[in-house]
Amino acid sequence: MTTSFRVTYATLSADNEELHTAYETGAARVREQLGFDVAAPGDDEAGEAVEVRSPADPSVVVCRVRPASPAAVDRAVAAAKAAFPAWAATPWQERLEVLRRCADAISEASDELAALMTVEVGKNRLEALGDVEESAVFFRYYSDVMAENQGYEVAMDTLSEREQTRSVLKPHGVWGVISPFNFPAALAAGPTAAALVAGNTVVVKPSLQGSATAWRLHQVLTGAGLPEGVLQLVPGGDEAGRALVASPDVAGLTFTGSYEAGMQVLRAGGSSWPRPVIAEMGGKNPTVVTASADLDAAADGVSRSAFGFSGQKCSACSRVYVDARVHDDFVTRLVERAGAVAVGDPLERTTYLGPVIDAAAVERFRDAVAQARRRGAVVAGGDVLTGDALPGHYVAPTVVTGLPADDPLLGTELFLPFVAVVPVSSLDEAIGLANDTVFGLTAGFFSGDDDEVEEFLRRIEAGVVYVNRPAGATTGAWPGIQPFGGWKGSGSSGKAGGGRYYLGLFMREQSQTVVQR
Ligand code: SER
Repeated sequence: MTTSFRVTYATLSADNEELHTAYETGAARVREQLGFDVAAPGDDEAGEAVEVRSPADPSVVVCRVRPASPAAVDRAVAAAKAAFPAWAATPWQERLEVLRRCADAISEASDELAALMTVEVGKNRLEALGDVEESAVFFRYYSDVMAENQGYEVAMDTLSEREQTRSVLKPHGVWGVISPFNFPAALAAGPTAAALVAGNTVVVKPSLQGSATAWRLHQVLTGAGLPEGVLQLVPGGDEAGRALVASPDVAGLTFTGSYEAGMQVLRAGGSSWPRPVIAEMGGKNPTVVTASADLDAAADGVSRSAFGFSGQKCSACSRVYVDARVHDDFVTRLVERAGAVAVGDPLERTTYLGPVIDAAAVERFRDAVAQARRRGAVVAGGDVLTGDALPGHYVAPTVVTGLPADDPLLGTELFLPFVAVVPVSSLDEAIGLANDTVFGLTAGFFSGDDDEVEEFLRRIEAGVVYVNRPAGATTGAWPGIQPFGGWKGSGSSGKAGGGRYYLGLFMREQSQTVVQR
């Protein structure tokens, strides 16, 4: 099965002039629209407007959000529930026609959506373009999986010719999708696409900090021909999210965000029967570098995964376990790369690293750096960056060494461009430390030895594993290529988004035995 796409994170090229020109046109259009309103329709009881400001320049108001009232959330769920029977009864082939149109509509709007995302969350242009393209690919990929499985209707064995049994996978009903700020398009689009392909209807509650991008994406999708009521969006913060989770009419939920919030969603009541909850939570993703590794490739891969989008990916690399014999060489190479990262306005073509998301993230950075200075050494970065050219929430890409292996900084997800390097005396020790965490999302490995590679792949506890990948030691999964989902405290389902088994999570099996009269 091949799903077509224009770019992936790994193939986005800084030299692709066509992409740059289109993005700049999109950015000019976005500038004219900034400050627009985001609100659930007819929500008279909505909360006070909250301004979402650009992390690159907080004087820029991206949008004004009226957080949805619990009543508006209930109305959205009711509308999605009313739309469910007809959408579920629509032959899957017809559903796919609509959903492939949704994919094309996203691709057509990608330059504007990407530029808006850059302004709203500070993601650099290539990564923002990737985020939007990934959103379109999710619609295409799950459509392809559905088609490949011919709608999931399978004839079962039979005991007599008079009796025929089919296994049929059917949708659940209304699906709630709670999405994060860091992939404000792709991580709303992915679960939404899977739920819709399966025949569910959807209510999305995006992160407040990604409201503008999610709102525009929603407009693109509903404008592409989805029937009335099939897809709803309720803007807002925790209150709107809690109302969605508490709704007895929400038959299934996906949540992407922190471990703590994900565990709350998993424990929450709501429905009167057990319902599926797919939670994709955090990571504290390790990379292991052995003495046989290509250290330049390792430093490239770690640098991209630690500093890309300011370390604000659940897949970011934040711990590196390096054979003590090559530790200093590796650190020298990583420090060189940290120093060469182009920090600045993420709308600019040359910028690699934009801001972190908000002032709280800057405070978290200050605190982590202070701790690192007390218990280890900061060998690159460590500074909060200010100045006329950097009016937003900017911090320097930071490399830390000398922390004890059980240091809290090596166990806590920071969501910052902050990576710690720890020397180890054996591969056994490295894998033990890599696995010694509640998380199990992604992991990277650099080695020139096939036996080491085999041992790592056998023992590492992570849902997404990369070996010798300079384009990203732990980041940059793409639907249909790297299924993406966490083990342990990083994810609840054991099935990965963008993989073959994910769609099945959005359906329930019915066995239908019919005896001839
Ligand atoms: N797809 C992203 C990555 O792999 C995370 O969601 O980095």
